[in-house]
Amino acid sequence: MTLATPLISRKSGPLTGTTRIPGDKSISHRALMFGALAEGETMISGLLEGEDVMNTASAMRALGAKIVDDSDGLWRVEGIGVGHLKEPSEILDMGNSGTSTRLLLGICASHELNAIFTGDKSLIKRPMKRVMEPLSQMGAHFLGRDGGRLPLAIKGTGRAKGIEYTLPVASAQVKSAILLAGLNAQGTTTVIEGHATRDHSENMLRHFGVPVDITKVPGGEAISVTGGARLLGCAVDVPGDPSSGAFLAVAACIVPGSNIRLQRVCVNPRRDGIYTTLKDMGADITYVKVETDAGEPVTDIIIRYKGALTGIDVPPERVPSMIDEFPVLAMAAACAQGITRMTNLAELRVKESDRLQMIADGLVACGVKLEMGEDSLIIYGNGQPPQGGALIETALDHRIAMSFLVLGMVSAEPIQIDDGTPIRTSFPNFVRLVNECGGMIEAAALQAA
Ligand code: S3P
Repeated sequence: MTLATPLISRKSGPLTGTTRIPGDKSISHRALMFGALAEGETMISGLLEGEDVMNTASAMRALGAKIVDDSDGLWRVEGIGVGHLKEPSEILDMGNSGTSTRLLLGICASHELNAIFTGDKSLIKRPMKRVMEPLSQMGAHFLGRDGGRLPLAIKGTGRAKGIEYTLPVASAQVKSAILLAGLNAQGTTTVIEGHATRDHSENMLRHFGVPVDITKVPGGEAISVTGGARLLGCAVDVPGDPSSGAFLAVAACIVPGSNIRLQRVCVNPRRDGIYTTLKDMGADITYVKVETDAGEPVTDIIIRYKGALTGIDVPPERVPSMIDEFPVLAMAAACAQGITRMTNLAELRVKESDRLQMIADGLVACGVKLEMGEDSLIIYGNGQPPQGGALIETALDHRIAMSFLVLGMVSAEPIQIDDGTPIRTSFPNFVRLVNECGGMIEAAALQAA
């Protein structure tokens, strides 16, 4: 068991400088998985070396791939080819990572093997039925706890059947799990999504040489792959994570005098809703020059402080493109002038924590006026940073932890979080990087602020 590391964030001066945020988590997971499923060698640069991605690497090794951290941050994956994964001899512990678990369940579903998945106290509470259902239709069998929670055993099959499946929730993890199972299923596997979710799996499958058919259909988009797919090892350069960049972006939007440049950030339109939303709130955010690399749009982003943000109604259809950014958006809203209304947030309740509840509890403790509904949050800002001076519970949720540390950079009194260790899952150098830009985050003794 890791010991909790309480952290404290104090009012900081302007954030300045040029900084490179770590590699995108979603793309990093996929680069390792797809590299392992490919024939030949895949070289990955810019991989996020956070705990979640390292758990994916361990699992892919247990399934037979050779993965080495060569030197200078270059990762080499010797793939074993679709259909050739081996049965892992140990339990696959996915730690805190829902993406690793759900995508790997998809991969295992269409391989002739048995595997057991488990995770930490947060992951074992998260719903897996959403992938178990379609993967069962394809021929996989599961044995797990009531409600479809980890620990969960899967019996995959080398004779999986392609299916057509309409996503009941907007989830890129579920979409990807089904498409990955489809790579080794008989016939065509089609996922229909009514709300566009992140398309990194589709983009990267094409980058590895696999045809992915995408067509408009009534009610959304149909994405299809054909069984017997062959992935060819290739080079992947992982761009910076827009979700991690959002912590610095919001900090620069609320700390007076800030002016920062984030290098090489992925600005896939299905991921960059937070930047659009901050702009709608009046923020000064510039995409310097968007270029496409391996199917992903990438650019430097400049964020300059421009005075208090203004509260807005976040368009509900934008939610999937910023699903992980509501905790940090809530911090921006707490400092903004006027009311920010966020709706369509049901999925926030089944993330690493019940994020809606954790945001609301933490902000109320910091003196912010708000209303929380079953799937909505209304924050009343007065154009001033809140009082702060609270000890925030983070419930093994990295994004809750980082969000409140960002708020502590402007609140009247410092904000403490009970545990900063989960930050390692997605943004291991967060504290150092923020402090290099001018932040004041440090270790704290665990006590009420
Ligand atoms: C992810 C999809 C999203 C997101 C998660 C990463 C992915 O989850 O919240 O952090 O890499 O596919 P859902 O698919 O459950 O919305």
